[in-house]
Amino acid sequence: MAAAPSLLILHPRLTFFATTLRPFSLIHHQFSVHPPTPSRLPVLFARSRHHSYSSSTSPFATPDNSNATETPRAGRSNSVSSPPNQAVDYAQKIDVNPPKGTRDFPPEEMRLRNWLFHNFREVSELFGFEEVDYPVLESEALYIRKAGEEIRDQLYCFEDKGNRRVALRPELTPSLARLVIQKGKSVPLPIKWFAIGQCWRYERMTRGRRREHYQWNMDIIGVPDVTGEAELISSIVTFFKRIGITAKDVGFKISSRKVLQEVLSLYSVPETSFAKACIIIDKMGKIPMEEIKKELKAVELSSDAIEDLLQVLSMKSLTELEEKLGGAGEAVRELKQLFSLAEKFGYSEWIQFDASVVRGLAYYTGIVFEGFDREGKLRAICGGGRYDRLLSTFGGDDIPACGFGFGDAVIIELLKERQLLPEVSVEVENIVCSLDPDLQGSAATVATLLRGKGQCVDLVLENKPLKWVFKRAARINARRLILVGRSEWERGMVNVKILSTGEQHEVNLDDLQ
Ligand code: HAM
Repeated sequence: MAAAPSLLILHPRLTFFATTLRPFSLIHHQFSVHPPTPSRLPVLFARSRHHSYSSSTSPFATPDNSNATETPRAGRSNSVSSPPNQAVDYAQKIDVNPPKGTRDFPPEEMRLRNWLFHNFREVSELFGFEEVDYPVLESEALYIRKAGEEIRDQLYCFEDKGNRRVALRPELTPSLARLVIQKGKSVPLPIKWFAIGQCWRYERMTRGRRREHYQWNMDIIGVPDVTGEAELISSIVTFFKRIGITAKDVGFKISSRKVLQEVLSLYSVPETSFAKACIIIDKMGKIPMEEIKKELKAVELSSDAIEDLLQVLSMKSLTELEEKLGGAGEAVRELKQLFSLAEKFGYSEWIQFDASVVRGLAYYTGIVFEGFDREGKLRAICGGGRYDRLLSTFGGDDIPACGFGFGDAVIIELLKERQLLPEVSVEVENIVCSLDPDLQGSAATVATLLRGKGQCVDLVLENKPLKWVFKRAARINARRLILVGRSEWERGMVNVKILSTGEQHEVNLDDLQ
């Protein structure tokens, strides 16, 4: 901690105290990121004194507000028993918790979210992707697929005032497909787009799974080769490395839906059963095996096909898979190509073949992958794959496509587990304060001048004691305190104090940078 700089500015209001200021870091944007040294947490993150990053008060997690919806507070009961049409009593107490499974983002959480999104964006741009966005509210029809996906049952959907069936998007991929079809040939292929958007799923809440979450997506449209998937995995690895996650913490399980297709084709399983079988297989480990078998039988898989399928799904080695399916099929060929590309990209240690990965969305057609935490404490960190036929199911041309979704919630849990959460502190470079109530306007002039030069300024808006101003300067990690005092102002000057050193000088307004 820096030694306490003593206050030297000569002004009647300045002479009574000295203050101690925290050290602060380089200013990048509106926040600065400190290396995640756990011992510094309580020092630099103002919030840390009140919140520790335990799972009960996690960043990006609201306190469990389950009681909020289920046990109405006394103050609310009036409205329940009010007769219809009676004017709402706005004076009643509201429930201050956000709806169950949703989050507020007060400034300290927002800084962390901005830091995360900033990394999502930088990595996407590093790979040459362009940012897009879509409406949070979409037509419900975009999400109605017949394969019995969980996501369908989790839809937040309703009829709008124009009697249209709409839904809060549970994922971004259908919106992307819609926009690609809408743009048609006006966009040259391949398209490389990324998006960061809020998604809504009425999900059973577990650690890292919420009813709303933000998803980072990167998608490549128009590349039929596994070079697409290899590039996408490379971008996620780059992201992990940037935020301090290593191959010891996280891995990718990789397989291909073509493995299942090739097994099922040996048993004349109807084409229409394929997506349904994938959705059922994705439930393995979540429901009893007997239940899985029963559901597979219901979609016209014979007992022999089921036994063979389950045996293949247990495979963890590509050589074993090749022995079973032969080397000529697309499944093995593409998987081998992907593993060979991983070597060239330099991320082989991050990936492993695991035939049990099929993913829970109906539209995947080829390579599928999931990021997992090696300690096995958390649910999938990210997931994606190839979906070559989604566009044609929406009436567009068949254009090959692959992509991934990466949620904000699980990664924050993982960073917390590994003590890698950064300390993202607030930073406003300057604090400007008048020393006299009737110099408030002059302080405003100084603030405007600095802001015009691109400097961030916190203008003290009331006549506050200097002790308060210094405390505030420390809280916002200000670099300079600029004081507008009468005698200096009359000479066209202000007092500038460098808060880290205590050094101070009078500066002419025209020279203020
Ligand atoms: P997904 O596996 O359903 O895939 O979701 C992708 C990621 O979003 C998950 O791995 C997880 O990080 C996060 N996620 C999903 N649901 C929740 C939740 N309820 N709470 C918190 N995080 C969640 C898709 O959504 C595909 N559309 C991804 C994709 C893009 N495939 C191709 N392009």
